[in-house]
Amino acid sequence: MTPPVLRLRNLRASVGGRQVLRGVDLDVGAGEVHAIMGPNGAGKSTLAAALAGRPDVAVEADAALFDGEPLLGRTPEQRACKGLFLGFQYPVELPGVHNLLLLRSALNAVRRDQGLAEVDAYDFLRSARALAKTLGLGEDLLQRDVNDGFSGGEKKRNEVLQLALLQPRLAILDEIDSGLDIDALKQVGAALQGLRDGRRSFVLVTHYRRLLDLVPVDRVHVMVDGRIAASGGIELAERLERQGYEWALQPEAVGE
Ligand SMILES: Nc1ncnc2c1ncn2[C@@H]1O[C@H](COP(=O)(O)OP(=O)(O)OP(=O)(O)O)[C@@H](O)[C@H]1O
Ligand SMILES: [Mg+2]
Repeated sequence: MTPPVLRLRNLRASVGGRQVLRGVDLDVGAGEVHAIMGPNGAGKSTLAAALAGRPDVAVEADAALFDGEPLLGRTPEQRACKGLFLGFQYPVELPGVHNLLLLRSALNAVRRDQGLAEVDAYDFLRSARALAKTLGLGEDLLQRDVNDGFSGGEKKRNEVLQLALLQPRLAILDEIDSGLDIDALKQVGAALQGLRDGRRSFVLVTHYRRLLDLVPVDRVHVMVDGRIAASGGIELAERLERQGYEWALQPEAVGE
C-alpha cells in the first residue's frame, strides 16, 4: 500500500502562548480530497498554518509526515518546494510585488528545486492568462500587485490561480469558497476538479457543504477545540448543515 501523502499523529500547536491544537490525527491518501469543518476558533486555520510552517506557530507531533518525510523543521519554502500549497483564508496584500512576477518566481523556485529549467516567460504568460480566464479573473489582475485592492472574491480566485500554476502535491485550501459569488464558486469548483489527477491531494477547510457538492470528498472531519471530533463521509457535512455543531461537542462524537 502506498503511504499517505500526509500523516499526522498527535499534532499539537500553540500560538501566542496559547495551545490551540490538542492532538490532531489525520491521514490523507494520494489523490484524496478531505474536508475539515468545525466551529469558528476550533483551530482549522492554525492547523493549516502549522503545516505550512508559519514561524509563530509552535508545533509538536508524534508524527508529521509529508510524502513519508518529516515535515516539521523544514522552512515554509522547503515545504512549498516539496509540493505543499496553502491557500489562505485571508490572502495578504503585497503592494509593490507584481502578481505575475511573483507567480513566475514561485514556479521557477519549485522547478529549480526539482532540477528543472526555468519556464519560458512567454509560455508562462500564455498559461497564466488561460488559467485566469477559466477562473473569471480579469487579465489586468495579473499585471497588478499581489492582492492589492483586489475584491474578496478576486483574492480567492487568485489563490486558485497560484495553485493551478504551481501544481502542488497537496493543496490545503482554507475557506477557498468564502467570499465567492455563485458563478465564481462554480469556476473554482471546476478548477479544483480539473486539478485532480489521482495523485494530487486536497484538504478543504470549509464551513459549507456547497463546495463539497462541486468537489466530491473522500472524508469529512469535524474539528472541535483543537481535535478531530468526528470523521465520516459527506453525510457528516449534511448532518452539520441540519443540526449545527452542538452534537459534535459531546464527548461521544469522538471517533468514527
Ligand atoms: N496569535 C494568537 N494569539 C492568541 N490566540 C490566537 C492567536 N492566533 C490564533 N489564536 C486563537 O486560536 C484559536 C483558533 O483559531 P483559528 O484561526 O485556527 O480558528 P478557525 O478554526 O480557523 O476559525 P474560523 O472558522 O473562524 O476561521 C482562536 O481562538 C484564535 O483566537
Ligand atoms: Mg480559519
